[in-house]
Amino acid sequence: MRFKAVEVLRDLEQRDFRVLQAVEWGMRWSEYSDVEEIAKRVDLHLEKLLHILDRLHKMDLVERWIGDYVGYRLTFHGYDCLALDALYKRRVVESLGMPKGLGKESNVFHALSFDGEEILLKIHRIMYQSFSQVRKKREYTSDKRHISELYASRISAEAEYESMKKLYQVGAPIPRPIDQNRHMIVMEKIEGIELVKARVADPAQILEEIIEFIKIAWQKAHLVHGDLSEHNVIVTPDQSVIVIDFPQAVPSDHPTAMDLLERDIQNLSAYFFRKYKLKFNPSEVLEYVTGDEKN
Ligand SMILES: Nc1ncnc2c1ncn2[C@@H]1O[C@H](COP(=O)(O)OP(=O)(O)OP(=O)(O)O)[C@@H](O)[C@H]1O
Ligand SMILES: [Mg+2]
Repeated sequence: MRFKAVEVLRDLEQRDFRVLQAVEWGMRWSEYSDVEEIAKRVDLHLEKLLHILDRLHKMDLVERWIGDYVGYRLTFHGYDCLALDALYKRRVVESLGMPKGLGKESNVFHALSFDGEEILLKIHRIMYQSFSQVRKKREYTSDKRHISELYASRISAEAEYESMKKLYQVGAPIPRPIDQNRHMIVMEKIEGIELVKARVADPAQILEEIIEFIKIAWQKAHLVHGDLSEHNVIVTPDQSVIVIDFPQAVPSDHPTAMDLLERDIQNLSAYFFRKYKLKFNPSEVLEYVTGDEKN
């Protein structure tokens, strides 16, 4: 996969970033930022600004609209540039490496911190199709589609980061959350293999650790994972469990929390039975994770 932002970042000057930021700012009020407003904000002559926007347009960082005014909006590539620039300036991400996983709603990349630590960058990309349910619910009109994708991606990253911070604080086995900007999350990179592909020496012990995770999450962080599966559990080389992927997590007092908790446990039960013929009673586990803390 080509990562446009990485290809063009070195060609961008500070002034280009200021223009991209001004486009982003204008998108708070309308789908396309009016060029005259952008010019005022970045304090440039219109002609000069149009020249810069034209270049950014050729780089595929912005889209143009010509109607009763001339407007621009960010593409995902432009949004990527702003987030990466922010993480670079905060001295969080020094450079990006190879893709680790390119999923439906996220791209995960290897990265390096300024201290030389190998870290991971997760970029949320809520695209129109996957977003259509939310769109229907909120009755967005189709011309709001684009702004909604960037917005939905940012909201998703913020939600995931907040859940990770809560879980990490109470000692749940998850990657250390490092930072978040716009639709991106930076986190510790875990060595290991997803449960679905891992060689497991003692399945019962792995199962037990996952159940302990569910319990800590529920009782101490007051959260339900909501998408717990063999794909979102990493088994480390020393055979311990690290849980990942939290954009769906909900607070334990949320109306759907109990259903999600039951579903997580049900999925776990089905997987361990199918793969390892390990049987447990989901309602007993449900009682265990929600019950008295001394259990
Ligand atoms: N902190 C991490 N350390 C190591 N690998 C990770 C980490 N976070 C994510 N990964 C890898 O990236 C993949 C995708 O990450 P994640 O599950 O968070 O996103 P996703 O939205 O589920 O993506 P997908 O649509 O591919 O399932 C994971 O299955 C895992 O292999
Ligand atoms: Mg996943």
